[in-house]
Amino acid sequence: MKITKICCIGAGYVGGPTMAVIAQKCPHIQVTVVDLNEERIAKWNDPNVDNIPIYEPGLSEVVKEARGRNLFFSTEVDKAIEEAEMIFISVNTPTKTYGSGKGLAADLKYIELCARQIARVAKTDKIVVEKSTLPVRTAEAIKSILQNTGNGVKYQILSNPEFLAEGTAVEDLFEPDRVLIGGESTPEGDTAIQALVEIYSNWVPKERILTTNVWSSELSKLVANAFLAQRVSSINAISELCEKTGADVNEVSRAIGMDSRIGPKFLKSSVGFGGSCFQKDILNLVYIAKSYGLNEVADYWEQVIIMNDHQKSRFAKKIVATLYNTVADKKIAFLGWAFKKDTNDTRESAAIYVANDLLFEQAKLAVYDPKVNNEQVMSDLNYLNSRSKEENEKGITSFEDPYQACKGAHAIAVLTEWDEFKTYDWEKIYTQMNKPAFVFDGRNLLNKEMLTKIGFKYQAIGS
Ligand code: NAD
Ligand code: UGA
Repeated sequence: MKITKICCIGAGYVGGPTMAVIAQKCPHIQVTVVDLNEERIAKWNDPNVDNIPIYEPGLSEVVKEARGRNLFFSTEVDKAIEEAEMIFISVNTPTKTYGSGKGLAADLKYIELCARQIARVAKTDKIVVEKSTLPVRTAEAIKSILQNTGNGVKYQILSNPEFLAEGTAVEDLFEPDRVLIGGESTPEGDTAIQALVEIYSNWVPKERILTTNVWSSELSKLVANAFLAQRVSSINAISELCEKTGADVNEVSRAIGMDSRIGPKFLKSSVGFGGSCFQKDILNLVYIAKSYGLNEVADYWEQVIIMNDHQKSRFAKKIVATLYNTVADKKIAFLGWAFKKDTNDTRESAAIYVANDLLFEQAKLAVYDPKVNNEQVMSDLNYLNSRSKEENEKGITSFEDPYQACKGAHAIAVLTEWDEFKTYDWEKIYTQMNKPAFVFDGRNLLNKEMLTKIGFKYQAIGS
Protein backbone atom coordinates (compact mmCIF):
# COMPACT_ATOMS: atom_id res chain seq x y z
CA MET A 1 0.00 0.00 0.00
CA LYS A 2 1.48 3.35 -1.06
CA ILE A 3 0.72 6.35 1.07
CA THR A 4 0.32 9.63 -0.82
CA LYS A 5 -1.38 11.79 1.78
CA ILE A 6 -0.65 12.09 5.48
CA CYS A 7 -2.49 14.15 8.08
CA CYS A 8 -1.04 14.88 11.50
CA ILE A 9 -3.32 16.12 14.28
CA GLY A 10 -1.29 18.33 16.63
CA ALA A 11 1.27 20.90 15.47
CA GLY A 12 3.34 20.94 18.65
CA TYR A 13 6.92 20.05 19.55
CA VAL A 14 6.48 16.57 18.11
CA GLY A 15 3.93 16.96 15.30
CA GLY A 16 5.65 20.01 13.79
CA PRO A 17 9.25 18.76 13.54
CA THR A 18 8.43 15.09 12.73
CA MET A 19 6.09 16.01 9.91
CA ALA A 20 8.48 18.65 8.56
CA VAL A 21 11.17 15.98 8.31
CA ILE A 22 8.84 13.38 6.74
CA ALA A 23 7.79 16.01 4.17
CA GLN A 24 11.37 17.00 3.43
CA LYS A 25 12.52 13.39 3.02
CA CYS A 26 9.43 12.26 1.07
CA PRO A 27 8.60 14.92 -1.53
CA HIS A 28 6.12 12.45 -3.10
CA ILE A 29 3.89 12.50 0.00
CA GLN A 30 1.58 15.40 0.84
CA VAL A 31 1.79 16.12 4.56
CA THR A 32 -0.81 18.32 6.28
CA VAL A 33 -0.36 19.24 9.93
CA VAL A 34 -3.54 20.43 11.60
CA ASP A 35 -4.25 21.99 14.97
CA LEU A 36 -7.15 23.69 16.73
CA ASN A 37 -4.79 26.41 17.93
CA GLU A 38 -5.11 29.09 15.24
CA GLU A 39 -2.27 31.19 16.55
CA ARG A 40 0.11 28.24 16.45
CA ILE A 41 -0.87 27.39 12.86
CA ALA A 42 -0.52 31.05 11.82
CA LYS A 43 3.02 31.01 13.19
CA TRP A 44 3.86 27.81 11.29
CA ASN A 45 2.64 29.62 8.16
CA ASP A 46 4.50 32.87 8.87
CA PRO A 47 6.22 33.98 5.64
CA ASN A 48 9.34 34.64 7.71
CA VAL A 49 10.39 31.09 8.53
CA ASP A 50 12.33 32.30 11.58
CA ASN A 51 8.99 33.00 13.27
CA ILE A 52 7.77 29.39 13.41
CA PRO A 53 6.50 28.62 16.91
CA ILE A 54 9.20 26.16 17.91
CA TYR A 55 12.86 26.93 18.21
CA GLU A 56 14.97 23.94 17.18
CA PRO A 57 18.39 24.14 15.52
CA GLY A 58 17.98 23.34 11.80
CA LEU A 59 14.18 23.27 11.83
CA SER A 60 13.50 26.48 9.94
CA GLU A 61 15.68 25.27 7.05
CA VAL A 62 13.67 22.04 6.80
CA VAL A 63 10.36 23.92 6.94
CA LYS A 64 11.59 26.41 4.36
CA GLU A 65 12.39 23.64 1.90
CA ALA A 66 9.13 21.68 2.23
CA ARG A 67 6.47 24.23 3.19
CA GLY A 68 4.10 25.02 0.34
CA ARG A 69 5.63 22.15 -1.71
CA ASN A 70 4.28 19.12 0.14
CA LEU A 71 4.10 20.40 3.70
CA PHE A 72 1.03 22.33 4.82
CA PHE A 73 -0.18 23.72 8.15
CA SER A 74 -3.90 24.22 8.58
CA THR A 75 -6.79 24.52 11.02
CA GLU A 76 -9.11 22.58 8.70
CA VAL A 77 -8.94 19.35 10.65
CA ASP A 78 -11.90 17.56 9.02
CA LYS A 79 -10.69 18.19 5.50
CA ALA A 80 -7.19 16.89 6.22
CA ILE A 81 -8.56 13.78 7.95
CA GLU A 82 -10.87 13.03 5.07
CA GLU A 83 -8.17 13.31 2.42
CA ALA A 84 -5.42 11.34 4.17
CA GLU A 85 -4.75 7.60 4.01
CA MET A 86 -2.62 7.78 7.14
CA ILE A 87 -3.40 9.93 10.18
CA PHE A 88 -0.87 10.61 12.94
CA ILE A 89 -2.24 11.60 16.33
CA SER A 90 0.32 13.86 17.97
CA VAL A 91 -1.71 15.74 20.54
CA ASN A 92 -0.74 16.42 24.12
CA THR A 93 -1.24 13.76 26.82
CA PRO A 94 -0.63 15.66 30.06
CA THR A 95 -0.96 14.31 33.58
CA LYS A 96 -4.59 14.31 34.73
CA THR A 97 -5.47 17.19 37.03
CA TYR A 98 -8.90 15.92 38.10
CA GLY A 99 -10.89 12.80 38.90
CA SER A 100 -9.51 9.31 39.34
CA GLY A 101 -5.81 9.04 38.62
CA LYS A 102 -5.41 12.78 39.31
CA GLY A 103 -1.73 13.68 39.48
CA LEU A 104 -0.59 10.36 38.00
CA ALA A 105 -2.52 9.04 35.00
CA ALA A 106 -2.25 10.47 31.49
CA ASP A 107 -5.23 12.58 30.47
CA LEU A 108 -6.49 10.95 27.31
CA LYS A 109 -9.34 13.35 26.57
CA TYR A 110 -7.54 14.94 23.60
CA ILE A 111 -6.75 11.51 22.19
CA GLU A 112 -10.35 10.42 22.48
CA LEU A 113 -11.55 13.62 20.82
CA CYS A 114 -9.25 12.90 17.88
CA ALA A 115 -10.51 9.33 17.60
CA ARG A 116 -14.13 10.53 17.64
CA GLN A 117 -13.40 13.19 15.06
CA ILE A 118 -11.75 10.65 12.76
CA ALA A 119 -14.69 8.30 13.26
CA ARG A 120 -17.12 11.07 12.36
CA VAL A 121 -15.30 12.35 9.29
CA ALA A 122 -13.67 9.34 7.63
CA LYS A 123 -15.29 7.93 4.50
CA THR A 124 -12.38 5.78 3.30
CA ASP A 125 -10.14 3.24 5.12
CA LYS A 126 -7.46 4.79 7.33
CA ILE A 127 -4.27 3.85 9.10
CA VAL A 128 -4.26 5.68 12.43
CA VAL A 129 -0.83 6.13 13.98
CA GLU A 130 -0.33 6.87 17.68
CA LYS A 131 2.56 9.34 17.75
CA SER A 132 1.70 10.76 21.18
CA THR A 133 3.09 8.94 24.20
CA LEU A 134 0.29 6.77 25.54
CA PRO A 135 -0.41 4.28 28.30
CA VAL A 136 -0.05 0.67 27.23
CA ARG A 137 -3.29 -0.65 25.68
CA THR A 138 -4.60 2.76 24.54
CA ALA A 139 -4.82 1.41 20.98
CA GLU A 140 -7.60 -0.84 22.23
CA ALA A 141 -9.70 2.17 23.28
CA ILE A 142 -9.02 4.02 20.02
CA LYS A 143 -9.98 0.95 18.05
CA SER A 144 -13.20 0.53 19.98
CA ILE A 145 -14.23 4.14 19.26
CA LEU A 146 -13.32 3.89 15.58
CA GLN A 147 -14.96 0.55 14.94
CA ASN A 148 -18.31 1.29 16.49
CA THR A 149 -19.47 3.95 14.08
CA GLY A 150 -21.18 1.54 11.73
CA ASN A 151 -20.13 3.39 8.55
CA GLY A 152 -18.07 0.50 7.18
CA VAL A 153 -14.71 2.29 7.20
CA LYS A 154 -11.83 -0.06 8.13
CA TYR A 155 -9.07 1.09 10.47
CA GLN A 156 -5.64 -0.16 11.39
CA ILE A 157 -4.03 1.28 14.50
CA LEU A 158 -0.25 1.52 14.73
CA SER A 159 1.91 2.69 17.60
CA ASN A 160 4.89 4.75 16.47
CA PRO A 161 6.25 6.57 19.53
CA GLU A 162 8.65 9.44 19.08
CA PHE A 163 12.08 9.44 20.73
CA LEU A 164 13.38 12.85 19.66
CA ALA A 165 14.83 15.10 22.34
CA GLU A 166 14.19 18.83 22.23
CA GLY A 167 17.14 20.96 21.19
CA THR A 168 18.35 18.14 18.92
CA ALA A 169 14.99 17.25 17.33
CA VAL A 170 16.07 17.63 13.71
CA GLU A 171 19.30 15.72 14.22
CA ASP A 172 17.40 12.96 16.08
CA LEU A 173 14.79 12.74 13.31
CA PHE A 174 17.40 12.64 10.55
CA GLU A 175 19.39 9.89 12.26
CA PRO A 176 17.24 8.10 14.81
CA ASP A 177 18.81 5.32 16.93
CA ARG A 178 15.71 3.39 15.99
CA VAL A 179 12.17 3.87 14.70
CA LEU A 180 9.64 1.76 16.57
CA ILE A 181 6.44 0.59 14.92
CA GLY A 182 3.91 -1.59 16.70
CA GLY A 183 0.97 -3.16 14.90
CA GLU A 184 -1.46 -6.04 14.86
CA SER A 185 -0.16 -9.48 13.88
CA THR A 186 -2.75 -9.97 11.10
CA PRO A 187 -2.37 -9.64 7.33
CA GLU A 188 -4.08 -6.20 7.49
CA GLY A 189 -1.85 -5.23 10.43
CA ASP A 190 1.26 -6.26 8.49
CA THR A 191 0.18 -4.22 5.47
CA ALA A 192 -0.27 -1.15 7.65
CA ILE A 193 3.10 -1.69 9.35
CA GLN A 194 4.80 -2.05 5.97
CA ALA A 195 3.20 1.18 4.70
CA LEU A 196 4.79 3.08 7.58
CA VAL A 197 8.09 1.20 7.29
CA GLU A 198 8.22 2.30 3.66
CA ILE A 199 7.85 5.96 4.60
CA TYR A 200 10.73 5.85 7.09
CA SER A 201 12.85 3.78 4.68
CA ASN A 202 13.22 6.90 2.56
CA TRP A 203 16.00 7.94 4.93
CA VAL A 204 16.32 5.51 7.85
CA PRO A 205 18.35 2.30 7.32
CA LYS A 206 16.04 -0.75 7.41
CA GLU A 207 17.92 -2.38 10.30
CA ARG A 208 17.01 0.59 12.50
CA ILE A 209 13.29 0.17 11.90
CA LEU A 210 11.99 -2.11 14.59
CA THR A 211 8.55 -3.68 14.39
CA THR A 212 6.78 -5.18 17.42
CA ASN A 213 3.29 -5.83 18.68
CA VAL A 214 1.28 -2.74 19.65
CA TRP A 215 1.55 -3.22 23.41
CA SER A 216 5.34 -3.60 23.40
CA SER A 217 5.64 -0.45 21.34
CA GLU A 218 3.37 1.60 23.59
CA LEU A 219 5.11 0.37 26.73
CA SER A 220 8.65 0.78 25.35
CA LYS A 221 8.16 4.51 25.01
CA LEU A 222 7.28 4.93 28.70
CA VAL A 223 10.11 2.61 29.68
CA ALA A 224 12.71 4.44 27.58
CA ASN A 225 11.88 7.74 29.29
CA ALA A 226 11.79 6.08 32.71
CA PHE A 227 15.27 4.59 32.18
CA LEU A 228 16.70 7.89 30.95
CA ALA A 229 15.24 9.87 33.85
CA GLN A 230 16.36 7.17 36.27
CA ARG A 231 19.98 7.70 35.22
CA VAL A 232 19.70 11.43 35.93
CA SER A 233 18.12 10.81 39.34
CA SER A 234 20.77 8.19 40.12
CA ILE A 235 23.66 10.53 39.42
CA ASN A 236 21.88 13.38 41.22
CA ALA A 237 21.49 11.18 44.29
CA ILE A 238 25.22 10.57 44.16
CA SER A 239 25.89 14.32 43.77
CA GLU A 240 24.56 14.93 47.28
CA LEU A 241 26.81 12.22 48.65
CA CYS A 242 29.76 13.76 46.80
CA GLU A 243 29.11 17.11 48.48
CA LYS A 244 29.42 15.44 51.88
CA THR A 245 32.44 13.28 51.16
CA GLY A 246 34.82 15.35 49.04
CA ALA A 247 34.25 13.23 45.95
CA ASP A 248 33.47 15.12 42.72
CA VAL A 249 30.40 13.98 40.81
CA ASN A 250 31.94 14.85 37.43
CA GLU A 251 34.85 12.56 38.19
CA VAL A 252 32.52 9.83 39.42
CA SER A 253 30.40 10.12 36.25
CA ARG A 254 33.47 9.84 34.10
CA ALA A 255 34.84 6.91 36.03
CA ILE A 256 31.64 4.87 35.92
CA GLY A 257 30.68 5.97 32.39
CA MET A 258 33.88 4.48 30.97
CA ASP A 259 32.53 1.06 31.87
CA SER A 260 31.05 0.07 28.54
CA ARG A 261 28.19 -1.64 30.33
CA ILE A 262 27.17 1.65 31.96
CA GLY A 263 28.12 4.06 29.16
CA PRO A 264 28.84 7.80 29.41
CA LYS A 265 25.56 9.36 28.31
CA PHE A 266 22.89 10.85 30.59
CA LEU A 267 25.17 10.96 33.62
CA LYS A 268 25.35 14.72 33.92
CA SER A 269 24.41 15.84 37.38
CA SER A 270 22.12 18.88 37.42
CA VAL A 271 19.60 20.93 39.34
CA GLY A 272 17.08 18.28 38.28
CA PHE A 273 15.51 17.11 35.08
CA GLY A 274 12.64 19.03 33.52
CA GLY A 275 10.72 18.89 30.28
CA SER A 276 7.16 17.99 29.49
CA CYS A 277 7.64 14.24 29.43
CA PHE A 278 9.98 12.58 31.94
CA GLN A 279 7.83 13.29 34.98
CA LYS A 280 4.52 12.79 33.19
CA ASP A 281 5.58 9.47 31.66
CA ILE A 282 7.02 8.06 34.88
CA LEU A 283 3.90 9.05 36.82
CA ASN A 284 1.91 7.30 34.15
CA LEU A 285 4.04 4.18 34.52
CA VAL A 286 3.53 4.33 38.28
CA TYR A 287 -0.22 4.62 37.76
CA ILE A 288 -0.33 1.68 35.36
CA ALA A 289 1.70 -0.50 37.75
CA LYS A 290 -0.60 0.47 40.63
CA SER A 291 -3.71 -0.26 38.59
CA TYR A 292 -2.46 -3.85 38.20
CA GLY A 293 -1.72 -4.02 41.94
CA LEU A 294 2.05 -3.97 41.37
CA ASN A 295 2.88 -1.73 44.29
CA GLU A 296 6.61 -2.53 44.52
CA VAL A 297 7.02 -1.75 40.82
CA ALA A 298 5.14 1.52 41.29
CA ASP A 299 7.21 2.54 44.34
CA TYR A 300 10.47 1.73 42.57
CA TRP A 301 9.76 4.15 39.71
CA GLU A 302 8.16 6.80 41.87
CA GLN A 303 11.48 7.17 43.66
CA VAL A 304 12.94 8.67 40.45
CA ILE A 305 10.50 11.58 40.78
CA ILE A 306 10.98 11.92 44.52
CA MET A 307 14.75 12.22 44.05
CA ASN A 308 14.27 14.80 41.28
CA ASP A 309 12.00 16.95 43.46
CA HIS A 310 14.55 16.72 46.24
CA GLN A 311 17.35 17.84 43.92
CA LYS A 312 15.42 20.97 42.88
CA SER A 313 14.44 21.93 46.40
CA ARG A 314 17.86 21.33 47.89
CA PHE A 315 19.38 23.66 45.26
CA ALA A 316 17.08 26.47 46.44
CA LYS A 317 17.80 25.65 50.08
CA LYS A 318 21.52 25.77 49.45
CA ILE A 319 21.23 29.26 47.99
CA VAL A 320 19.32 30.50 51.03
CA ALA A 321 21.68 28.82 53.50
CA THR A 322 24.78 30.17 51.77
CA LEU A 323 23.41 33.71 51.63
CA TYR A 324 23.47 33.81 55.43
CA ASN A 325 20.03 32.23 55.78
CA THR A 326 18.13 35.12 54.26
CA VAL A 327 17.45 36.14 50.69
CA ALA A 328 14.61 38.55 51.49
CA ASP A 329 14.86 41.54 49.14
CA LYS A 330 18.17 40.28 47.75
CA LYS A 331 18.53 40.27 43.99
CA ILE A 332 19.34 36.82 42.61
CA ALA A 333 20.02 36.50 38.89
CA PHE A 334 18.84 33.40 37.04
CA LEU A 335 20.84 32.49 33.97
CA GLY A 336 18.47 30.26 32.00
CA TRP A 337 14.80 29.40 32.34
CA ALA A 338 14.30 26.73 29.62
CA PHE A 339 14.41 23.10 30.79
CA LYS A 340 17.58 22.51 28.74
CA LYS A 341 19.69 24.44 26.25
CA ASP A 342 18.77 25.06 22.61
CA THR A 343 15.02 25.08 23.20
CA ASN A 344 12.43 27.71 24.10
CA ASP A 345 10.40 25.07 25.93
CA THR A 346 10.01 25.71 29.65
CA ARG A 347 7.56 22.98 30.62
CA GLU A 348 8.46 21.50 34.04
CA SER A 349 11.77 23.37 33.95
CA ALA A 350 13.70 23.13 37.23
CA ALA A 351 14.03 26.93 37.10
CA ILE A 352 10.30 27.35 37.78
CA TYR A 353 10.44 25.36 41.02
CA VAL A 354 13.67 26.92 42.25
CA ALA A 355 12.19 30.37 41.54
CA ASN A 356 9.02 29.46 43.39
CA ASP A 357 10.97 28.37 46.48
CA LEU A 358 13.07 31.55 46.45
CA LEU A 359 9.98 33.74 46.04
CA PHE A 360 8.58 32.15 49.21
CA GLU A 361 11.76 33.48 50.85
CA GLN A 362 10.97 36.92 49.36
CA ALA A 363 13.98 37.06 47.06
CA LYS A 364 13.94 39.43 44.05
CA LEU A 365 14.64 37.38 40.97
CA ALA A 366 16.12 38.65 37.70
CA VAL A 367 15.84 36.20 34.81
CA TYR A 368 17.77 36.06 31.58
CA ASP A 369 17.21 33.32 29.02
CA PRO A 370 18.22 33.75 25.38
CA LYS A 371 14.99 32.17 24.09
CA VAL A 372 12.36 32.70 26.80
CA ASN A 373 10.45 35.97 27.24
CA ASN A 374 8.92 37.58 30.31
CA GLU A 375 5.39 36.55 29.38
CA GLN A 376 6.40 32.88 29.47
CA VAL A 377 8.24 33.24 32.78
CA MET A 378 5.18 34.87 34.36
CA SER A 379 2.81 32.31 32.94
CA ASP A 380 4.96 29.43 34.24
CA LEU A 381 4.97 30.89 37.73
CA ASN A 382 1.30 31.86 37.75
CA TYR A 383 0.43 28.31 36.70
CA LEU A 384 1.74 27.05 40.06
CA ASN A 385 -0.89 29.13 41.88
CA SER A 386 1.51 29.73 44.78
CA ARG A 387 0.69 33.43 45.14
CA SER A 388 -1.16 36.20 43.30
CA LYS A 389 -0.10 37.37 39.85
CA GLU A 390 0.76 40.77 41.30
CA GLU A 391 3.06 39.20 43.87
CA ASN A 392 4.80 37.17 41.18
CA GLU A 393 5.22 40.32 39.11
CA LYS A 394 6.77 42.12 42.07
CA GLY A 395 9.14 39.26 42.78
CA ILE A 396 10.51 38.47 39.34
CA THR A 397 11.67 40.47 36.32
CA SER A 398 13.06 39.26 33.01
CA PHE A 399 15.91 40.99 31.23
CA GLU A 400 17.01 41.01 27.62
CA ASP A 401 20.61 41.63 28.60
CA PRO A 402 22.39 39.17 30.90
CA TYR A 403 24.69 41.86 32.29
CA GLN A 404 21.69 43.92 33.40
CA ALA A 405 20.16 40.82 35.00
CA CYS A 406 23.32 40.25 37.03
CA LYS A 407 23.98 43.90 37.92
CA GLY A 408 23.62 44.50 41.66
CA ALA A 409 22.84 40.84 42.37
CA HIS A 410 23.99 39.02 45.49
CA ALA A 411 24.10 35.72 43.64
CA ILE A 412 23.81 34.18 40.20
CA ALA A 413 22.13 30.82 39.72
CA VAL A 414 22.76 28.90 36.49
CA LEU A 415 19.59 26.96 35.66
CA THR A 416 20.10 26.08 31.98
CA GLU A 417 23.31 25.00 30.27
CA TRP A 418 23.24 27.56 27.39
CA ASP A 419 26.69 27.67 25.76
CA GLU A 420 26.74 31.48 25.66
CA PHE A 421 26.95 31.69 29.46
CA LYS A 422 30.50 30.34 29.26
CA THR A 423 31.64 33.18 27.02
CA TYR A 424 30.43 36.12 29.12
CA ASP A 425 32.77 38.79 30.46
CA TRP A 426 32.78 37.41 33.99
CA GLU A 427 35.19 40.13 35.23
CA LYS A 428 32.62 42.73 34.24
CA ILE A 429 29.80 40.79 35.88
CA TYR A 430 31.84 40.47 39.07
CA THR A 431 32.55 44.21 39.38
CA GLN A 432 28.84 45.02 39.07
CA MET A 433 27.66 42.57 41.76
CA ASN A 434 27.22 42.82 45.50
CA LYS A 435 30.10 41.23 47.43
CA PRO A 436 30.67 38.50 48.29
CA ALA A 437 29.47 37.55 44.82
CA PHE A 438 28.09 34.01 44.74
CA VAL A 439 27.58 31.71 41.76
CA PHE A 440 25.44 28.58 42.15
CA ASP A 441 26.05 26.52 39.07
CA GLY A 442 23.10 24.15 38.70
CA ARG A 443 24.57 22.73 35.51
CA ASN A 444 28.28 22.44 36.36
CA LEU A 445 28.79 24.58 33.29
CA LEU A 446 31.19 27.37 34.21
CA ASN A 447 34.92 27.31 34.76
CA LYS A 448 35.37 27.09 38.51
CA GLU A 449 39.05 28.02 38.47
CA MET A 450 38.49 31.13 36.38
CA LEU A 451 35.55 32.33 38.46
CA THR A 452 37.30 31.71 41.76
CA LYS A 453 40.33 33.61 40.51
CA ILE A 454 38.13 36.61 39.67
CA GLY A 455 36.80 36.54 43.23
CA PHE A 456 33.45 34.73 42.94
CA LYS A 457 32.33 32.30 45.62
CA TYR A 458 31.51 29.43 43.30
CA GLN A 459 29.41 26.38 44.16
CA ALA A 460 28.69 23.57 41.75
CA ILE A 461 26.47 20.51 42.09
CA GLY A 462 28.15 17.47 43.56
CA SER A 463 31.55 18.78 44.57
P1 NAD B 1 2.25 20.09 22.36
O1 NAD B 1 1.38 20.52 23.46
O2 NAD B 1 3.43 20.92 21.97
O3 NAD B 1 1.36 19.90 21.03
C1 NAD B 1 0.12 19.27 21.00
C2 NAD B 1 -0.80 20.04 20.05
O4 NAD B 1 -1.99 19.30 19.85
C3 NAD B 1 -1.24 21.42 20.58
O5 NAD B 1 -0.82 22.43 19.67
C4 NAD B 1 -2.77 21.31 20.68
O6 NAD B 1 -3.44 22.51 20.31
C5 NAD B 1 -3.06 20.21 19.67
N1 NAD B 1 -4.34 19.54 19.89
C6 NAD B 1 -4.84 18.99 21.03
N2 NAD B 1 -6.02 18.42 20.81
C7 NAD B 1 -6.32 18.60 19.51
C8 NAD B 1 -7.40 18.23 18.68
N3 NAD B 1 -8.44 17.53 19.17
N4 NAD B 1 -7.39 18.59 17.39
C9 NAD B 1 -6.33 19.29 16.89
N5 NAD B 1 -5.27 19.65 17.62
C10 NAD B 1 -5.25 19.32 18.91
O7 NAD B 1 2.72 18.61 22.72
P2 NAD B 1 4.06 17.86 22.24
O8 NAD B 1 5.20 18.26 23.08
O9 NAD B 1 4.17 17.94 20.76
O10 NAD B 1 3.70 16.37 22.66
C11 NAD B 1 2.74 15.61 21.97
C12 NAD B 1 2.87 14.15 22.37
O11 NAD B 1 4.16 13.66 22.01
C13 NAD B 1 2.74 13.91 23.88
O12 NAD B 1 2.07 12.69 24.07
C14 NAD B 1 4.17 13.78 24.34
O13 NAD B 1 4.29 12.95 25.47
C15 NAD B 1 4.83 13.11 23.16
N6 NAD B 1 6.28 13.38 23.01
C16 NAD B 1 6.78 14.64 23.19
C17 NAD B 1 8.14 14.88 23.00
C18 NAD B 1 8.74 16.25 23.16
O14 NAD B 1 9.94 16.38 23.04
N7 NAD B 1 7.97 17.29 23.43
C19 NAD B 1 8.97 13.84 22.56
C20 NAD B 1 8.42 12.57 22.37
C21 NAD B 1 7.07 12.36 22.60
C1 UGA C 1 13.45 13.23 26.51
C2 UGA C 1 14.09 11.99 25.89
O1 UGA C 1 15.52 12.18 25.87
C3 UGA C 1 13.58 11.76 24.47
O2 UGA C 1 14.13 10.54 23.95
C4 UGA C 1 12.04 11.65 24.51
O3 UGA C 1 11.52 11.50 23.21
C5 UGA C 1 11.47 12.90 25.14
O4 UGA C 1 12.02 13.07 26.47
C6 UGA C 1 10.00 12.85 25.31
O5 UGA C 1 9.40 11.80 25.33
O6 UGA C 1 9.47 13.96 25.46
P1 UGA C 1 13.79 15.85 26.31
O7 UGA C 1 12.96 15.90 27.53
O8 UGA C 1 13.44 16.71 25.17
O9 UGA C 1 13.84 14.35 25.74
O10 UGA C 1 15.30 16.21 26.69
P2 UGA C 1 16.47 15.39 27.43
O11 UGA C 1 17.72 15.66 26.72
O12 UGA C 1 16.12 13.99 27.66
O13 UGA C 1 16.55 16.14 28.83
C7 UGA C 1 15.53 16.03 29.81
C8 UGA C 1 15.97 16.71 31.09
O14 UGA C 1 17.00 15.96 31.73
C9 UGA C 1 16.54 18.11 30.87
O15 UGA C 1 16.09 18.97 31.88
C10 UGA C 1 18.03 17.89 30.97
O16 UGA C 1 18.72 19.03 31.36
C11 UGA C 1 18.11 16.80 32.01
N1 UGA C 1 19.34 15.99 31.94
C12 UGA C 1 19.58 15.21 30.87
C13 UGA C 1 20.24 16.02 32.99
O17 UGA C 1 20.04 16.73 34.00
N2 UGA C 1 21.38 15.26 32.92
C14 UGA C 1 21.64 14.47 31.85
O18 UGA C 1 22.70 13.78 31.86
C15 UGA C 1 20.72 14.45 30.80
